[in-house]
Amino acid sequence: MRIDRTAWFKGGGFLQCEPEETPRSGPYRLILLGPPGVGKGTQAQMLSDALGACHLSTGDLFRAAMCQTEPSPALRSALNAMRRGELVSDDLVVTMVRERAGCLRCRGGFLLDGFPRTVAQAEALDAVLADLGVAIDAAMSYELPLDEIVDRMGGRRTCSDCKAVYHATANPPRVPDICDRCQGRLFQREDDRPEPVRVRMQAYEESTKPLVEYYEREGKLQTIPATGTPAEVLGRSLHALGVGRTTGRIRNGYRSAVGQGVTG
Ligand code: AP5
Repeated sequence: MRIDRTAWFKGGGFLQCEPEETPRSGPYRLILLGPPGVGKGTQAQMLSDALGACHLSTGDLFRAAMCQTEPSPALRSALNAMRRGELVSDDLVVTMVRERAGCLRCRGGFLLDGFPRTVAQAEALDAVLADLGVAIDAAMSYELPLDEIVDRMGGRRTCSDCKAVYHATANPPRVPDICDRCQGRLFQREDDRPEPVRVRMQAYEESTKPLVEYYEREGKLQTIPATGTPAEVLGRSLHALGVGRTTGRIRNGYRSAVGQGVTG
């Protein structure tokens, strides 16, 4: 199955992608919750391959917008907030997601990574989904001790082209600083420096953690320990969803799961 995230990155006017195969089970419509650096993006890449659902990350959306030569004043202030580690305003995030509502109707399903991040965003998402006539299957909440989170963020490297995520020691690329998937250059995120990391953790505690209760009340919460290898975390995620490990192409393991099929 080929997944094309062009509609997510470019916004309104672009057609939503049409997966070539119907997923073997699902479609799955999932929210990935958890503190910065816990491994949501990594799991989203792997779950996308296993379930055929599209990885929709608001962080990737803003990082892609950094390349725009003339961002609007609202976008410029959002990108500055992001560099400092602060949350972007609910209004702007919700507007950007609404402009991409077609991606939430995709017949392959979706994996929302980094959205919603506040209760106001969760309520806005509920309204958009109600209009579209689709519902969330589960909110996956990943948990990890703080010292491991700091280590994961310190070693993170991201592809400047396809946004694939690596780790300098836990998941290095085959060739240093070059993406296995598209040969793009890997870079270290500006907001992975110590001060923005501190601000991001605080924003998570104050604004995003309440979403755990929000989805628990809705009966959608799945809590997943994020310790261990990415493949082990994936196994727990699939188990929580009641999906067998052999679904999709996940049999070949982590590197193939991350290295195939998702274009940005
Ligand atoms: P965003 O891009 O969403 O960042 P985040 O939530 O801070 O999450 P991260 O991307 O830092 O971490 P992750 O959990 O995805 O971990 P990863 O898989 O990379 O948002 C960035 C900013 O954009 C925000 O601060 C905000 O300013 C703005 N923004 C975005 N959405 C917004 C919204 N809705 N509202 C307001 N503002 C918004 O893994 C981390 C590292 O660990 C990697 O190197 C990886 O290879 C490694 N790793 C992963 N799993 C494992 C494992 N099991 N074992 C060992 N290493 C592992």
